[in-house]
Amino acid sequence: MNYRHIYHAGNFADVMKHALLLRLLAGLQRKPKPFLVLDTHAGLGAYDVTSEQAEKTGEWRDGIGRLLDAPPPALADYVETIRRLGLYPGSPLFTIAALRSTDRLIACELHPEDAQILRRTLRPYANAAAHERDGYEALGAFLPPPEKRALVLIDPPFERTDEFAHLAKTLAAAWRKFPSGVYVVWYPIKHRAPVRGFFEALRLAGVKDLIAAELLRRPDTDPTRLNGAGLAIINPPFGFEAEALPILEACREAFGEAGASVALERIINE
Ligand SMILES: C[S@@+](CC[C@H](N)C(=O)[O-])C[C@H]1O[C@@H](n2cnc3c(N)ncnc32)[C@H](O)[C@@H]1O
Repeated sequence: MNYRHIYHAGNFADVMKHALLLRLLAGLQRKPKPFLVLDTHAGLGAYDVTSEQAEKTGEWRDGIGRLLDAPPPALADYVETIRRLGLYPGSPLFTIAALRSTDRLIACELHPEDAQILRRTLRPYANAAAHERDGYEALGAFLPPPEKRALVLIDPPFERTDEFAHLAKTLAAAWRKFPSGVYVVWYPIKHRAPVRGFFEALRLAGVKDLIAAELLRRPDTDPTRLNGAGLAIINPPFGFEAEALPILEACREAFGEAGASVALERIINE
């Protein structure tokens, strides 16, 4: 496990992922019934972007760093959450900041050192639990939840060469066990073929109601670069697409280079 998210925290892909995550959580909270958030690849929970590691790549300067002074309206609540929390929050802390006291967070992290920091980050929150374990296995262990409502965030590092295939297999198995869950998968866009293969595998597995929200900073012609990122969402909450588009457009404005684009596409119908 070489990947450490501290080097990338707050980069353009985090901005897009976390701003959309906040809208998804708000969507689930339109109903009073409590829900579980299962964050399978949680990272540290929060990041000090002035740390030596974060400054080594400086990715945050090219991400959240571009928004702090004058956030566009579509990203105002996202930036406000960061200001309120002080550090750059990872997905667990963004989640816990948004949850009601009746909702619950289970956050899994496999790297022992990062899991220890995650545990410390979440200790003050009674409705959050950190687990040092394989997030893919956690899908089998924690679903379906007693609440019968859940948002599952799957945000792997894509270090494995078979990550897309493994993801499709485990996601389809989780969906079969708990088909009404909202599943949110982050994926990198280097070039198109692996992403197409991932969607096709989900279609063949029988998954329904899948959309993709994508930001391409530049056309995906050079597969050695992270040209963009996407969220694949199964069972998106009602109204999410209308809220997501201005966020994607604001990200394109902030991070796009020549030929940048956004897409919000229905991949599989309900
Ligand atoms: C992209 S980072 C997560 C970032 C986090 N979701 C956020 O948005 O703040 C991926 C994390 O997954 C962890 N990881 C890698 N393989 C894992 C596995 N099989 N189960 C759980 N965590 C894993 C890595 O150590 C890394 O911290």
